[in-house]
Amino acid sequence: MEAIIETNPRRTFAIISHPDAGKTTLTEKLLLYGGAIHLAGSVKSRKAQKHAVSDWMEIEKQRGISVTSSVLQFDYQGYRVNILDTPGHQDFSEDTYRTLLAADSAVMLIDAAKGVEEQTKKLFRVCKERHIPIFTFVNKLDRFGRNPFELMEEIEKVLGIRAYPMNWPVGVDGNYQGVYNRQLAQVELFAKDDSHGQRALPSTTGSVADPVFRQALGEAVHHALCEDIALLDLAGDQFEYDKVARGELTPMFFGSAMTNFGVQPFLEEFLRLAPPPAPHRSSAGFVSPDSDVFSAFVFKIQANMNPAHRDRIAFIRICSGKFARGMSVYHVQSGKQVKLTQPQQFLAQERTLVEEAFPGDIIGLFDPGIFSIGDTLCQPGQEIRFEDFPVFPPEQFARVQAKDTMKRKQFVKGMAQLTQEGAIQVFRQPNAVESFVVGVVGSLQFEVLQYRLKQEYGVDILMHPLPYGLARWVTGQGPNAPALKGMDNGMVLEDVKGRPLVLVANEWQLKWGRDNNPGVAFLAAPPNGPAAERPSA
Ligand code: G4P
Repeated sequence: MEAIIETNPRRTFAIISHPDAGKTTLTEKLLLYGGAIHLAGSVKSRKAQKHAVSDWMEIEKQRGISVTSSVLQFDYQGYRVNILDTPGHQDFSEDTYRTLLAADSAVMLIDAAKGVEEQTKKLFRVCKERHIPIFTFVNKLDRFGRNPFELMEEIEKVLGIRAYPMNWPVGVDGNYQGVYNRQLAQVELFAKDDSHGQRALPSTTGSVADPVFRQALGEAVHHALCEDIALLDLAGDQFEYDKVARGELTPMFFGSAMTNFGVQPFLEEFLRLAPPPAPHRSSAGFVSPDSDVFSAFVFKIQANMNPAHRDRIAFIRICSGKFARGMSVYHVQSGKQVKLTQPQQFLAQERTLVEEAFPGDIIGLFDPGIFSIGDTLCQPGQEIRFEDFPVFPPEQFARVQAKDTMKRKQFVKGMAQLTQEGAIQVFRQPNAVESFVVGVVGSLQFEVLQYRLKQEYGVDILMHPLPYGLARWVTGQGPNAPALKGMDNGMVLEDVKGRPLVLVANEWQLKWGRDNNPGVAFLAAPPNGPAAERPSA
């Protein structure tokens, strides 16, 4: 029953936001308060340091974006905190979606001046569909921003979730001093220091009615705060934990990740309210994190994270039971038993060997090339399968070939690797030997493909965009897909498993194809994999 004891204190979550809202900064500050790092890089070297903390790929350093997810772990006040870092680029990527499948809750970060932005909307929708609790952190309160009531209203209107402010900013528009804790009816004021947010900040706490605080705040700020509190209490929603748990109400916090104001109160309250690891749906019903029987699923594969190692890591989320280094598990998809000898945990670029881990934890396994996204690992003799990961129908296509035909071997190896990681989808045109057709959801994936083939496999590629926007797997006609009628404008391909599909330009062409081939089904995902609607803007 050890699993039960170790399960409760886990908090496994992802931070979702639009680029530049401050996700890297907040992650860093959570690590600072969690004691995992001792100095946050808020001064000149911040850029270099922040990449050292959560980014692995060179491309991110060049472009200042995060295109790959990392996992960070620290302990705080008896909780074990697992932060899943999601890519921050505008392009919606499948990688982000898969990462959210491994999280039990999400922190939605909003820039106080900008409100709810595009990428936040898309990621929010994914979390909403999964019904996981969503917590909101309104960031950059140290600057001029929108009125907090207006931000609340925007969240409710644009995202369709009720917001419950757990705290309220004290002094806004460049005069931010701290937060008012609604539950305790207490003000917490932060002392400005000269460390530029590098160190944890001292703060003082007291009653809003205390004359000392009244004086410290100044009459105008104190008065405005009291009015806001009265209005919130009168007109705002009640706090209902059940609604939070179902993703219908978002607890809202205000702060400034850069100056550290409000970071600690957020962390503590979030850890208290965020859910412990949830049960996961499998072929044998829901698997409870309290079960003693080990189970886990692969949600991310990443090769060549460290150029010095050139290895391939499969990230697994443990769903039940206890993991112990060296244990043998059953890999359901290959039907083989695998010994897990070198499990790793990650903080920045440091890797540590994991001796044991529990439900909610994320660990990285050395992958000799056997794992794929969505695979299940479980105790030998207990064959279960976690739900298949959704496949996003690609929307952009290009024909790709190696510039130098002598590099064909490395090219094929690199393409196979990136396909297994789920970074791209690869198709083959019958009879085309030298080239592949690549399908992606967002165009950034093309850039990553080009970059990684060059960096990791030394292969320059030629990429020719193709004028298609939809891929449909065809069934009902046997493997003889080229016999499709009236689809001369489309392109007939095979996926990596030899299943036929057709690329067409648009819905109109697809309809034409359907009308002309009544016995054929046109599927948005491979016949035995679940389809996912790509969340649209
Ligand atoms: P991201 O990962 O969400 O893309 O955002 P990131 O943390 O990189 O932050 C984006 C910019 O916003 C950075 O400024 C960062 O310093 C700033 N920022 C983050 N939190 C706060 C905050 O609470 N208040 C204010 N005023 N700014 C904040 P930059 O100029 O792009 O980078 P840098 O030179 O500061 O590194």
